[in-house]
Amino acid sequence: MSEELIFHVKPQMAANAHVTVTRLGLMQNHAMNNADAFWLEQARRLDWMRFPTVAGTGGFGGEGGGVQISWFGDGVLNASVNCLDRHLAERGDATALIWQGEREEQSETLSFRQLHERVCRLANVLKRNGVGRGDRVAVYLPMVADGVAAMLACARIGAVHVVMFAGFSSSGVASRIRDSGAKLLITADEGRRGGKTIPLKRMADAALAELGDAAPAVVLVARVTGSDVPMQAGRDHALEPLMADVSAECEPEPMGAEDPLLILYTSGSTGAPKGVLHTTGGYLLWASLTQEIVFDHRPGDVFWCTADLGWVTGHSYVVYGPLANGGATLLFEGTPSYPEPGRWWQVIDRHAVTGFYTAPTAIRALMRDDPAVVERASLRSLRVLGSVGEPINPEAWLWFYDKVGHRSCPVMDSWWQTETGGIMIAPLPGAVAQKPGSATLPLPGVRPLLVNEKGEELKGEAEGHLCIAGSWPGQARTLWGDHPRFEQTYFSTYPGLYFSGDGARRDADGYFWITGRVDDVINVSGHRIGSAEVESAFATHEAVGESAVIGVPDDLKGQSLAAFVVLRKGAGAETQELPAALSRHVGVQLGRYAAPDRVVLVPDLPKTRSGKVMRRILRKIATGEHEALGDVSTLADPGIVEQLVRAMEASA
Ligand code: WT7
Repeated sequence: MSEELIFHVKPQMAANAHVTVTRLGLMQNHAMNNADAFWLEQARRLDWMRFPTVAGTGGFGGEGGGVQISWFGDGVLNASVNCLDRHLAERGDATALIWQGEREEQSETLSFRQLHERVCRLANVLKRNGVGRGDRVAVYLPMVADGVAAMLACARIGAVHVVMFAGFSSSGVASRIRDSGAKLLITADEGRRGGKTIPLKRMADAALAELGDAAPAVVLVARVTGSDVPMQAGRDHALEPLMADVSAECEPEPMGAEDPLLILYTSGSTGAPKGVLHTTGGYLLWASLTQEIVFDHRPGDVFWCTADLGWVTGHSYVVYGPLANGGATLLFEGTPSYPEPGRWWQVIDRHAVTGFYTAPTAIRALMRDDPAVVERASLRSLRVLGSVGEPINPEAWLWFYDKVGHRSCPVMDSWWQTETGGIMIAPLPGAVAQKPGSATLPLPGVRPLLVNEKGEELKGEAEGHLCIAGSWPGQARTLWGDHPRFEQTYFSTYPGLYFSGDGARRDADGYFWITGRVDDVINVSGHRIGSAEVESAFATHEAVGESAVIGVPDDLKGQSLAAFVVLRKGAGAETQELPAALSRHVGVQLGRYAAPDRVVLVPDLPKTRSGKVMRRILRKIATGEHEALGDVSTLADPGIVEQLVRAMEASA
């Protein structure tokens, strides 16, 4: 049904958008025929201290060579200047940031001038505390303006920010601080979420205790709820008094385009989360360009991307994209339905939001509200909608289009990843017709292709593994401290190509339909979780011998986690409470978002003779497709299947 549905470009968009059909054609031709000139022309959208003379150099390896990616290598710029200073002359008093607290009366609006001052002051505080060029700064904050200020303050002095989602556990925070070697931590007394408080400082303290000698020497504590938290003399400092005590001006550090801007940890199919590294020039160009063309950015726009600052979506479309384009960005502290259903719609109306970018899982949850809730809102200010994080089912797309966009706002289903820095495949409001459920076509200069298991390119209508041929400026350059893992993870499966880890189908019109991960990464509510990570967390529980974690389809979350756990011999009696206790244990280790919904105790795992767990079989058993198990002859013990089915049924 979905493939028959096409939503054509609106006439008013077709005529006035940044990218019209004609312009798109010109861009594509230019990118194809003279890529260097095309990208150098795009680079003009940024303010440079020294304009680059080279575009992309290096490559994806292939014939024995290593992977080396560089963009605008001799250019010099500062990201905070591009987000703030360059707007001061003409738009200094325009709104840069709207912070809306959970409660209606708590809100704050900062102009570019005010945000500039806040960033300069915080940058000076960082400098006073010994932070300089290249140093890593960990940020563990709730959704407050200081989070944005912290990122830009790091950028201003050339420090590398490592932002962590406030939902991470203290162990999660500790491992990221350890790996990045952050020398300073910015956190808050507490966060607020859905009417509850999150004890951030207490969690940070636990992380620091776990780190011992590797803990940052300085902790800056922002005031969010104002509640009293323990402060360790000499190490912990309240942020506000320090900010008042420094200059409101801070000279921006001139940074090479290839100097690191940020590290963001993300889950892979194996091992611990990896530190994806983005550099200054290419990343900023990508965030800024994609924000403008995908959301058809206009002066005076108020953009609301609902992602947390701790994810890449928050980096590119809450902070760098909107601000680099001189637009206002909205930061909302709360959840969609607290204190009452419809809270998000109230926020859109109150702040006259023009662009609204969220995740399918949130849309599906909002669809379950009483229809009157969304109908009560005006939503007249909206011009463009966006979806990201997982495939959007056509039903959710249509509801979003109809009930939120009132059939007048295009829905930009945008495919990208932490590693791509910004949007790669998405419709453009003035140039590309939409099909619900399809991320549509690549942006100019992006060359996706589909390959089969042997790495052969599939042309025309086809389904296969989604790769990208050739670099683009927003691409991650390495994994922090582990370039071999970078090469191995993304460039070794199909030599010469970047492999995304996703599967996709291309239809007769060349439209891409993302089918989901083809590796052991599980996408729960748009959060990427590695099965290996959850299995390692299980392994730290005394009762667990081994485990296998898989994703199963979930109406609301897209996928949810199911775990098959084999208890250690002599671990004591199996109690009824044990599965729930094991799930909670994972939640404590990794953060609640990673606690499996279902834990099934089993006598053994389905393994091949060489000892590899056959997850395919577990997936079928978890979804009740016992008849369709496929070939089980490679199992070391085919009899295990029946035991697994029985354990699954018993646990229901
Ligand atoms: C994975 C990347 C990119 C920001 C949010 C998540 C999935 C992302 C879509 C989409 C289908 C999507 C992919 C991808 N994904 N956008 N529009 N349609 N799937 O970033 O945590 O790095 O996750 O999210 O599976 O690989 P991330």
